[in-house]
Amino acid sequence: MTFDKDKKNVFSAIQPSGTITLGNYLGAIKNWIPLQEKYNCIFSLADLHTITVRQDPKEFHKNILQTYALFLSCGVDPKKSIFFIQSHVHTHAELAWILNCYTQFGELSRMTQFKDKSSRYSENINVGLFCYPTLMASDILLYKTHLIPVGIDQKQHVELARNVAGRFNGIYGEVFTMPEPLIPKVGAKIMSLQDPKKKMSKSDSNRNAYISVLDSEEDILKKLRKVVTDSNSEIKYSGSMTGVDNLINIYCCITGKNVNEAEDEFRDKGYKYLKESVAAVVANELKPIQSKFDDYIKDLGYMEKCYKEAARQANDISKEMISRVFSKVGFVPK
Ligand code: TRP
Repeated sequence: MTFDKDKKNVFSAIQPSGTITLGNYLGAIKNWIPLQEKYNCIFSLADLHTITVRQDPKEFHKNILQTYALFLSCGVDPKKSIFFIQSHVHTHAELAWILNCYTQFGELSRMTQFKDKSSRYSENINVGLFCYPTLMASDILLYKTHLIPVGIDQKQHVELARNVAGRFNGIYGEVFTMPEPLIPKVGAKIMSLQDPKKKMSKSDSNRNAYISVLDSEEDILKKLRKVVTDSNSEIKYSGSMTGVDNLINIYCCITGKNVNEAEDEFRDKGYKYLKESVAAVVANELKPIQSKFDDYIKDLGYMEKCYKEAARQANDISKEMISRVFSKVGFVPK
């Protein structure tokens, strides 16, 4: 892929921790695909971020390769985008260190995700978890990123990246490009099937709370059947994060219909019909992805070629920025 100076740059990443959920797919990956036609896209598997929570090495290794295969299956095209593995490009950790020195302890202490995760993993509140947002800022700022497609839960981290970039530029002149989050209207947040007030998450201990993109048609139906719906007979979108709202959101996200159209379609049909219809569109959406996944995961040689070439390109681009930063800070060139 060649960088076109007339196009804006897009950067996004996702953590290769375990399976990819329907929430990741609809809230993130699916929105990335059309961006490839319009922008210079750089996508990454944020494996350095993932070790802020303890991983089993074998399982982690497998997850990274699986996630890479899944992204290819979802339509990330290595000919159109740079799709690399974060730990393969050393500039990320380097810039992260520098940004740490321009970020205040208080700022990071206020991050909602840090507060959430430190209560969830209270036995391992490591410094990496605390500095997670500066590593993310480094990912973004290395590539003169204009746009960052992310879910709404990452907005605060993007805001931090902007603050740090602004502070650095304030001291040293225009070094970093000011990035903007690109948050999709529908589907930005697919909620847990078991607790629709919480985001759908692969780290949920209840397997029924999320759909994995690799789930069978049967499992999808089973999980959707368990969604708690209320006792109203009319199916309506309430806007207050109910199980029904979540089902309608999923349906709209996949079919491209709006909420009113979905309500008209389901109003008098009953919850069983709603759940089965959602299950059918979900299974239908995931089927081609699953079949491509089976092919990619068998062809590790091909994947290796893709991620090595991508790392080479990402390295070429980002080393310009890191040299610039080194020189601004006053380091002696090597
Ligand atoms: N923190 C993001 C998430 O969990 C993943 C991520 C890492 C990211 N680096 C990024 C997203 C840079 C956007 C840009 O979803």
